[in-house]
Amino acid sequence: MVSQVNAEPPLRRMVDNTMWLALEENLASADERFMEWLRDAHAMEEQSEQMLERTCDRLENYPEVRERFNAHRAVSRRHADTVRQCIGRRGGSPSAIKDTAGKLMAFAQGASGLFVGDEVVKAILATSTFEQMKISSYEILKATARTVGDSETERACEENLREEQQMADWLEDNIAPITQTYLQREEASGVTAKH
Ligand SMILES: [Fe+2]
Repeated sequence: MVSQVNAEPPLRRMVDNTMWLALEENLASADERFMEWLRDAHAMEEQSEQMLERTCDRLENYPEVRERFNAHRAVSRRHADTVRQCIGRRGGSPSAIKDTAGKLMAFAQGASGLFVGDEVVKAILATSTFEQMKISSYEILKATARTVGDSETERACEENLREEQQMADWLEDNIAPITQTYLQREEASGVTAKH
């Protein structure tokens, strides 16, 4: 009897049964977390693709931004496919992806800045925020892949991360000139500044 009590984890002896059941429910293995995070990344890439597509459709007066966004839209599509392959290789079900995508939708739409006067500036801000989120997500996935010993997924995440960083660098270099162009257009008469 005594040895059974001692075999319990220390935390188990400190909490009541209800709390313990809740704690157990929230415990997940690294593999489970990995799958969850891969699905989040997949949803994020799909959302990124849609957000960039919507923005490109509207950016009439900023051809360089439009071109860069359109290129990254294609990159996001490819990244979504790569992550989907990682999920499949690890035996995940693609059907669960849609739930997470819905949650992220709200974030992206809220941040996309459509229908506001300074649309192009808001688009840059939202895209830049999204890029930072993707960069951190791939860092998390890389660390997790290394922990569970999935070198193929680690390489895939490294490659995606590299391309997110390139996009983030482009945004960093272009935030000032785009903002200045926007402000100049707003001052000028007879031109559209917002997009
Ligand atoms: Fe991406």
